[in-house]
Amino acid sequence: MSSRPAQISASLLNADFARLGDEVRRAVDGGVDSIHLDVMDGHFVENLTIGPVVIEAVRRMASVPYHAHLMVSQPLRLARSFADAGSDLIVAHVEADDDPAEVIDAIHGHGRAAGLALNPETPAEAVLPYLDTIDLLLVMTVHPGRGGQAFLSEVLPKLSQLREEIDRRGLSLPIGVDGGVNLDTIGPAHAAGGDVMVVGSALYREAGELAPIVQALRAAATRVVA
Ligand code: DX5
Ligand code: ZN
Repeated sequence: MSSRPAQISASLLNADFARLGDEVRRAVDGGVDSIHLDVMDGHFVENLTIGPVVIEAVRRMASVPYHAHLMVSQPLRLARSFADAGSDLIVAHVEADDDPAEVIDAIHGHGRAAGLALNPETPAEAVLPYLDTIDLLLVMTVHPGRGGQAFLSEVLPKLSQLREEIDRRGLSLPIGVDGGVNLDTIGPAHAAGGDVMVVGSALYREAGELAPIVQALRAAATRVVA
């Protein structure tokens, strides 16, 4: 049994957008630790999703932390509006146009926690300069832009490498894993060093109460395969 706890963060991208507030409630009543909101600008990724007004609307549905995952080319322009909308943590991509250090400073300047995400094809070296300044490292295990994609297990060695580097530096920096996390992939992802497991379609494909699937995911995360 792995000692590190696994957090479950519900990605709303595959939730029923006609009832987003209810879907937040369903996830929180099911016992998730945080809500993960996928923000896409139609430029950094082809898809276009939500803006600050949506976060503002669903924020009052629950008191768990809200993580805004900005898949946008210019996060500097958006940091304040997502902070003001009530995001507790704002994640920008290291691949975005803006300088990551400036983005991290800006997010902290708005009184929020700052996260940095890296895509599957981006080497670990790209984020090493920022590990000491961020509050979450988000390792993408799908190419950003859509929910419901298959987990890219070839990312696992990079995840382990980053976990080792964070531990070597003695940082208390959690690693998020985002994309294709389900009952089969959550175990290897957690074993490789993931802490905050972002789950979208594997949650919202379930009808009704989410407690059973959330509990099953937690159990699968820390189950050590002999
Ligand atoms: C993809 C998003 C992920 C994704 C997770 O660009 O960042 O959060 O929606 O959804 P699943 O769990 O369905 O891969
Ligand atoms: Zn995401």
